[in-house]
Amino acid sequence: MKLTVVGTGYVGLVSGVCFSEIGNNVICIDRDADKIDRLKNGEVPIYEPGLQEYLVNNMNNGRLEFSTDIKYGVKESDLIIIAVGTPSLPNGEANLAFVEEVARNIAVEMNGYKVIMTKSTVPVGTNERIKEIICSITDHPFDVVSVPEFLREGSAVKDTFSPDRVVIGVENKRAEEIVSELHKPLTDKVVVTDIRSAEMIKYASNAFLATKISFINEIANICDKVGADVSNVAKGMGYDKRIGPHFLNAGIGYGGSCFPKDTDALIQIAGNADYDFKLLKAVVDVNKHQRYNILDKLQQVLGNLNGKKIAIWGLAFKPNTDDVRDAPANEVITELLKLGADVSAYDPIAMDNFKKSLDQDGVSWSETAFEAVQNADAVCLLTEWDEFKEADLNQLEAAMRFPVLIDGRNVFTQEQLSESNLIYHSVGRPRLQQKELELYV
Ligand code: UDX
Repeated sequence: MKLTVVGTGYVGLVSGVCFSEIGNNVICIDRDADKIDRLKNGEVPIYEPGLQEYLVNNMNNGRLEFSTDIKYGVKESDLIIIAVGTPSLPNGEANLAFVEEVARNIAVEMNGYKVIMTKSTVPVGTNERIKEIICSITDHPFDVVSVPEFLREGSAVKDTFSPDRVVIGVENKRAEEIVSELHKPLTDKVVVTDIRSAEMIKYASNAFLATKISFINEIANICDKVGADVSNVAKGMGYDKRIGPHFLNAGIGYGGSCFPKDTDALIQIAGNADYDFKLLKAVVDVNKHQRYNILDKLQQVLGNLNGKKIAIWGLAFKPNTDDVRDAPANEVITELLKLGADVSAYDPIAMDNFKKSLDQDGVSWSETAFEAVQNADAVCLLTEWDEFKEADLNQLEAAMRFPVLIDGRNVFTQEQLSESNLIYHSVGRPRLQQKELELYV
């Protein structure tokens, strides 16, 4: 099949590359000429395991090309995928300006029947709006289809090749057949539904996963108070098939480009329909506070943080990505600086992105994990990179002024800790808490 993807952000680029890998001819379009030039040279602008190899292979075998020319992309393909961003407006609503502009550009260039497939996360009713826009510009026949994207950063390629399901929101058989054919090599778990339901499935899925995380984080906060261990609680809950083991890892809350944006947008969608989504509002609120939990623990151990050296391990919103959008590290570091702490930070991949995103000076950026903790009064682990999980805790203890480890992602086990003298706090596992600072003062 020949197809065009408009937008080479996370969703567009991964989809374009993966669709070419399964045998389609794909044109990826972006108006950012600099980005297109870099992609043409085989440079992938995001850190995503596996993506570069597939990109280069498919460019070399002629199935994948990049261009800034939307006219070319529309004329050449009968299937056009919209994968541009829908960033949040100040009130939480999704900004549809890019999606609408692309719809207009496609309509102007149409030269026959096209399937316009939306992968951008858009509020219920947006695909109808796209249809209206295109109808107002051209008489050429077309169908609009909603195929929401569920890929996770860091495992986006794997998720695209073996999705849990594909959702196709469609109005007629002709378009359904074309889009089903495209996804056939990926999975047979396909949900075909109407367009509005497909749009809702994406928001409902992300909101539900965010709810699971905030739920387990609140259970963890209670575990801290009553002396239970949230890891075992989650394990015991997760074996129940109705609950499932995933997304029950307690920590400092969710971040990234999707959950915070999509939960806010769904609250707005509900509000616009005159419905107060109380549960989801609470989920968002719990998540905001969870980031500060780690600072309370630091203060419990160290008292006043003014002038104390606090090391930060991990800046990306999760491991295996360089994405720092809505990363908890941003608020944690900003607050530490406000409290007068000297902050030294390290992340294996996301340092450059994080430096650009933090609108404050005063952080010292370290080249290695152990440089960051040198003479520190405490280290806070904010992202569960393997490099941190595998760190030698005796070496850590020896490098620090006070060996305080605040583990915001519950990565260390009783076994690892029993060998060390670290003062250790995690989230909802009070029994792993060890030793008192007085030992060292
Ligand atoms: C998410 C959805 O999983 C994906 O389907 C959707 O298309 C986009 O949003 P992503 O943002 O890449 O993907 O990351 P994900 O792996 O889902 O993690 C989201 C956040 O939740 C991260 O900050 C992560 O640290 C946090 N998380 C996840 C937890 O705190 N606990 C968990 O148990 C799982």
